[in-house]
Amino acid sequence: MTTTKNTGATKNTGATKNTGATEPTAADPAAPAFAVRDLWKVFGPKADRIPGNPEYRILSTAELREKTGCTAAVRDVDFDVQRGEVFVVMGLSGSGKSTLVRTLTRLIEPTSGSIAMDGEDVLGMDKNRLRELRRRQTAMVFQNFGLLPHRSVLDNVAYGLEIQGVGKAERRAKAQEIVEKVGLAGMEERRPGQLSGGQQQRVGLARALAVDPEVLLFDEPFSALDPLIRRDMQEEVIRLHREEGRTMVFITHDLSEALRLGDRIMLMRDGAIVQLGTPEEIVANPADDYVRDFVRDVPREQVISVRRAMRPADAAESATGTELAPDTLVVDAIEAVANSGEPCRVVEDGRTLGIVDHERLLAVVAGIDGGSDTEGKEVAAI
Ligand SMILES: Nc1ncnc2c1ncn2[C@@H]1O[C@H](COP(=O)(O)OP(=O)(O)O)[C@@H](O)[C@H]1O
Ligand SMILES: [Mg+2]
Repeated sequence: MTTTKNTGATKNTGATKNTGATEPTAADPAAPAFAVRDLWKVFGPKADRIPGNPEYRILSTAELREKTGCTAAVRDVDFDVQRGEVFVVMGLSGSGKSTLVRTLTRLIEPTSGSIAMDGEDVLGMDKNRLRELRRRQTAMVFQNFGLLPHRSVLDNVAYGLEIQGVGKAERRAKAQEIVEKVGLAGMEERRPGQLSGGQQQRVGLARALAVDPEVLLFDEPFSALDPLIRRDMQEEVIRLHREEGRTMVFITHDLSEALRLGDRIMLMRDGAIVQLGTPEEIVANPADDYVRDFVRDVPREQVISVRRAMRPADAAESATGTELAPDTLVVDAIEAVANSGEPCRVVEDGRTLGIVDHERLLAVVAGIDGGSDTEGKEVAAI
């Protein structure tokens, strides 16, 4: 990711952009929710000089800090968030996750690079357009809930609509609807202080949903919650996503949370991307030793699908046996093979792609399968 870029030096003043006008630019329906290119955020003295300087660019975060007094929180990052996906940004504390998500709506100004939302240049937006972006198109859920302590649950949920200038009756009606949606019915008149942590975060979630944003941004929203409550909230997010299909950017330092929620996961280390892929790709094909260490204890059968676990079918096997879809998880295939007492077929559009048997499935559990992309492709090509 950090090799051949020469564009880091361009400072985005918006001066040459054609989208800087007050009029919102029509969204490009084919564009990703976010397209981020060559993005840097450097904190510290004369931070602007860092991204364009080949000598500084290659220094580690620690070396850079020592030499220049600057911290590169986000380093030369490129990614797209597709519409409708749950895009997880994962990394240890200090890896740049919060900085990154805040640059998306310019709560933190990037040092260099480009960001487009629905094809529209975010760095070219003027104040009014940015306000619109932050109030209507996106909504954020924070770890510390960020609720107004003297307001009722209902008024907290209605807050974003109030800022938008929506009238009282309308915003309360909308808030009521969302309060019910997130399981807080009956608590409308309570203050945040009268709620448990999990309930408070439901209010935070409801407040974000109430403005009906295109994209929900979550910055470690459940990190402060007890494990069981946390699990409940993750289920809630999964349910909401299933029902609404809203684009979500979800930050976490917790691998199991990332695997549970993410359509794709972007793993960050020291401000840079280490790997970006589906949970299955990351667990099956870690990009380096760092990622391998990270995913070492993941129950592979719960993440890896039969598409990766299967072997080629011989002619006799192609027509009989229980059928499994290619995205069936190994854990479920084990049950199918155990129940039927024979190997199962992996079938897509009526075509047998391969076979999973005891041996192949156990190999995944034991972590001794090839499990590589090439293997999957070879089999799929048969
Ligand atoms: N305002 C700031 N000034 C200086 N350094 C900062 C600032 N905000 C964050 N950093 C540094 O940037 C790095 C990334 O921080 P952050 O984005 O908060 O990471 P994460 O959210 O992954 O824990 C850290 O080294 C942090 O100390
Ligand atoms: Mg953070």
